Amino acid sequence: MAPISFPKGFLWGTASASYQIEGGWNEDGKGESIWDRFSHTPGKIKQSDTGDVACDFYNRHPDDIALMAELGLNAARISLSWPRIMPTGNGPVNQKGLDFYRRVVDQMLQRNIQPWVTLYHWDLPQTLEDAGGWPNRDLAEYFRDYAAVVADALGDRVKHWMAFNEPWIFTILGYHLGIHAPGRRELGEAIKATHTVNLAQGMAIKALRESKNHPEAVGTAFSMSPVHPETGSLEDRTAAERWHRFYNKWFLDTVMHGKYPEAYLEGSIEDHVEIRAGDMDLIKAPLDFIGINLYTRAVVAHDSHDRYMGVKQVRPGGEEVTEFGWEVYPQALSEMILHVAKDYPGIPIYVTENGCSYGDGPGADGKINDQRRVSFLRRFIAEVGHAMKVGADVRGYFLWTFTDNFEWAEGFQQRFGIVHCDFKTQQRIVKESGHWYANLARTGALDFDPVI
Ligand code: GCO
Repeated sequence: MAPISFPKGFLWGTASASYQIEGGWNEDGKGESIWDRFSHTPGKIKQSDTGDVACDFYNRHPDDIALMAELGLNAARISLSWPRIMPTGNGPVNQKGLDFYRRVVDQMLQRNIQPWVTLYHWDLPQTLEDAGGWPNRDLAEYFRDYAAVVADALGDRVKHWMAFNEPWIFTILGYHLGIHAPGRRELGEAIKATHTVNLAQGMAIKALRESKNHPEAVGTAFSMSPVHPETGSLEDRTAAERWHRFYNKWFLDTVMHGKYPEAYLEGSIEDHVEIRAGDMDLIKAPLDFIGINLYTRAVVAHDSHDRYMGVKQVRPGGEEVTEFGWEVYPQALSEMILHVAKDYPGIPIYVTENGCSYGDGPGADGKINDQRRVSFLRRFIAEVGHAMKVGADVRGYFLWTFTDNFEWAEGFQQRFGIVHCDFKTQQRIVKESGHWYANLARTGALDFDPVI
């Protein structure tokens, strides 16, 4: 018997995002998104890459979905492009956009692939950015209305929803660090954006639940990393705790408990954002499942120059890294899962993203022998098995990602796929890791246990 065998019915899928794969950026009535605008602005994306065509999933989805089925995957996480469905964000609905997603979802269902759909994976309609973007709290209502439209149109077929993908990343990288769309560097506005997104999350979840098509489960996919202090000093340990609360719980404690975690060195959320009466009731909408997107751990130290958080990220030194430079630290996954299981008991957990960037391309024999990815996946997925053995209720794993795709500010430089994509010809080749994952999905048997 294999050291770890996953239960029958466990979901084995891949995860993706509309802007990263679809292309068709202005086809069939789609409106402009902030990522269209950002990638068309010189200097924002490496090598001036854009998602105009990306993996051309807009046209090639039948073949890609057939390939998923061939590999034995039983679930797929996709996201919807808000401006494809509502070109101006809060105006008329574009039927052709909805029809596209109906086709995608129907083809998945025909092939026994369960669609797991994220409402928002970062491609905000540009018109809503022009109206102030996420710092403008009106966006919470627009997002709720968009959720209601989508729930009515697709909820007969889609039963598993995520409101947001990585709310922390798109608010902080988009409005504070400026490296993601819309590319603003305004810390105060970024914190305001987090509050609007928290409101939007609670309101959209309620809209999904209230729709005539009852969903089976609604959650969010959070970016998460266990936070380790650089040293054992009290200062570093309290810095790590602050970062944990801000990075891992800012959008999770709110939706589960209607309360912001205490995260600031000086002051609290109320010092930065106007929280109106009733806001925390709108925000609270306990999730049916918690989605964990995890790639690595965070190591932090106390930093007296950072007056808000008093935290800086540090490199452990000498660590194994992926081609993106991210530390390969498999135990991060079991640690995070067990943390979530303890803090939110009784809530099912899904790994909604995990994966790695390695640039291996076709060898002389045409094969892509990406053994580093196989090694990464084997070690991380074993940690999922380990967490389940000690009691965590994990029900599925979505690997990031199916085809190599547009990796945000990195453009096409970072390849995370288990299927190689030639961006000139759009040819797909299943990598060795893809065959390896297919075998795991078919058998549920993993030949490696981290604790044996
Ligand atoms: C994210 C997103 C994905 C990324 C992936 C690799 O986590 O940033 O959800 O869109 O492509 O994580 O960086």
